[in-house]
Amino acid sequence: NNYIVIMAGGVGSRFWPMSTEEKPKQFLDVLGIGKTLLQQTVARFKTVAPAENILIVTSSKYKELVIAQCPELLGSNILLEPCMRNTAPCIAYAAYKIKGLNPDANIVVAPSDHLITNEAEFIRIIENGLDFTANNETLLTLGIQPHRPETGYGYIQASPEDLLPPSGGTQGGVVTERGVCKVAAFKEKPNLETAKKYLASGDFFWNSGIFLWSLKSIIKAFENDLSEVAALFAKGESVYNTNQEQAFIDEMFPTCMNISIDYGVMEKADNIYVQPADFGWSDLGTWGSLWEKRERCEQGNTVVGEQVHVFESSNCIVNMPKGKKVVIQGLDDYIVVEDNEVLMICKKEEEQRIKEFRAAVLS
Ligand code: GDD
Ligand code: MG
Repeated sequence: NNYIVIMAGGVGSRFWPMSTEEKPKQFLDVLGIGKTLLQQTVARFKTVAPAENILIVTSSKYKELVIAQCPELLGSNILLEPCMRNTAPCIAYAAYKIKGLNPDANIVVAPSDHLITNEAEFIRIIENGLDFTANNETLLTLGIQPHRPETGYGYIQASPEDLLPPSGGTQGGVVTERGVCKVAAFKEKPNLETAKKYLASGDFFWNSGIFLWSLKSIIKAFENDLSEVAALFAKGESVYNTNQEQAFIDEMFPTCMNISIDYGVMEKADNIYVQPADFGWSDLGTWGSLWEKRERCEQGNTVVGEQVHVFESSNCIVNMPKGKKVVIQGLDDYIVVEDNEVLMICKKEEEQRIKEFRAAVLS
């Protein structure tokens, strides 16, 4: 009964100029390991569900990219949105489609653009989690121990009482004392001041953005918290998994509200639980987070490019096209990227402004 829903319709604008609207970061091999982030995500789930139970939800403009990168998936499992409406409609679409395939489905929803380094631990946590959601009417999140006041994440406040005994997992290398906990509050993307408070309080986790629930629980949550969205997608029940599905979606989807699952459901529902997890998770949201994860030389530089020569520089991340001859001297803590006919040289600490730089170039 296990189904996997991979969300792959975002634009990854903080990874510009490598990530573009035509080819966002989930379709790129950002680590330089020969596999795109989407391909890594699909591969990670191959022991959890058969290929015919893996669905990818993306924008219709990325259809060919998904087919080319994931040839093992059924064409009918690539769900195409005619426009971007954020993650709540994406998840609702997948849920109502799965309802027509298997009403007893148990679902994992995952982003397509994260890095997970400990796959064995990831699978262990996912399997325990699926066991939990199959037997409890809950929405389960996977919580990551925070280590900086990041404002780009959701924060999950765990209530002190554990529900289940510890599962034997680890947090930062130490065996965790916590099993699944009830969530006291879910706060999406706090401001810096609030994020600092959450970090200091010690009882918040980061939302990894990976969710587990039974089909019944998520449909109920939509009916309770986003009833408009539920009503729209419920209208298509007779056409999902038929040749009229796409026409229905193309017509209806643009009328749906634009809202993330985090604001639309997770902040409101009261049956949310968290499983603390430590499987080498990274959001890879920015160049700086990629710098942290890539192999670096003694000076802390990490370079992709065949003819890049670096002198007296430290802690830089450099991405250059194959044939480009490049010399870098005297740069510390810089991002140096050339791609898609744009060269960007930007201080790592200013990387939150990349959206602004991108807008300046595109205008
Ligand atoms: N199909 C589809 N349609 N996918 C989408 C859409 C959409 O309109 N918008 C975003 N996605 C995909 C992205 O490609 C990504 O894989 C995933 O959904 C999450 O969207 P993001 O836009 O990357 O969300 P976020 O990073 O700002 O925040 C979420 O993830 C954080 C962890 O990385 C939230 O869940 C936070 O609470 C969480 O901490
Ligand atoms: Mg993200």
